[in-house]
Amino acid sequence: MAPSAASADSSSRASAVVAPLLSIGGPLSALAAALAVVNGYITTPTALLIVALLGAAAYALRALAEPAVGLPSWQQAVQLARGRRSIFPRDFTGAKLERWQIETMLEAARWAPTHKKTEPWRFVVLGGDAKAQFEALTMRLCRERLPPEKAEATLTKLERKAGKDWKNVACYIAICVKRSPDKLPEWEEVAAVSCAVQNLSLVATSVGVAGYWTSWQEAARTAPEMHEFLGIGPDDLCIGYFVAGVADPERAASYKASRQPLDSVVEWRL
Ligand SMILES: Cc1cc2nc3c(=O)[nH]c(=O)nc-3n(C[C@H](O)[C@H](O)[C@H](O)COP(=O)(O)O)c2cc1C
Repeated sequence: MAPSAASADSSSRASAVVAPLLSIGGPLSALAAALAVVNGYITTPTALLIVALLGAAAYALRALAEPAVGLPSWQQAVQLARGRRSIFPRDFTGAKLERWQIETMLEAARWAPTHKKTEPWRFVVLGGDAKAQFEALTMRLCRERLPPEKAEATLTKLERKAGKDWKNVACYIAICVKRSPDKLPEWEEVAAVSCAVQNLSLVATSVGVAGYWTSWQEAARTAPEMHEFLGIGPDDLCIGYFVAGVADPERAASYKASRQPLDSVVEWRL
């Protein structure tokens, strides 16, 4: 069982309390020891011993309060960015995820950049009964809303996925945008939430969660009934779902990726 995602946060809160105490406590205890020696309450060796013991205790306290991990090296950061892959449910094993894995992904997500600090990301984790309800609602909305010329082929495809791939999904994470129309244009809030999804995806990779961002069926994603199901306002957005599960290691290893060369997407004007 891995530690909760909240532990790094509570550790840095502890550090924020302990650090000022230590910076005041050190000089104060040295001053008190010096006064005790001057007034003849204790001898100099005793005073030195007390200060040394207090120093050791302070060192131990600081070590306990500080986060246990540092930043990854730049090589590790680039390796993670390059190593993240979209992995699809046909290659999931059907195994469930542990709550700490999902919580760690969401913890990373909420540290994305946010203009005017609106923190527009909202996530709804849909597993168990909620997953079944979401899938059923998707089918119903597609049946009701798809234009006739698209309906038959799309519904056949979805029914095939429902009978196979969807069974392997551990949970869907709805990716929602809480709008602040008085403060920011829509694109900035969508951009911030997209950054959050990237954080989530990178950390998914590092905690052994496979998945991908799907835009899902538009007919279902944008329907008022879906907004109501997700508990988001009529003016808020759902910009897709992170489909999460456990990948079959061999099949995941077979995923290959490529990108255009760097020079084809960057113009240097140094
Ligand atoms: C906003 C967004 C929406 C996406 N929607 C879908 C989708 O509906 N279906 C799908 O198969 N992949 C979807 N993807 C995932 C892409 O297929 C995937 O990122 C692409 O194949 C590159 O693979 P990689 O993520 O492993 O680098 C989406 C990605 C993004 C960023």
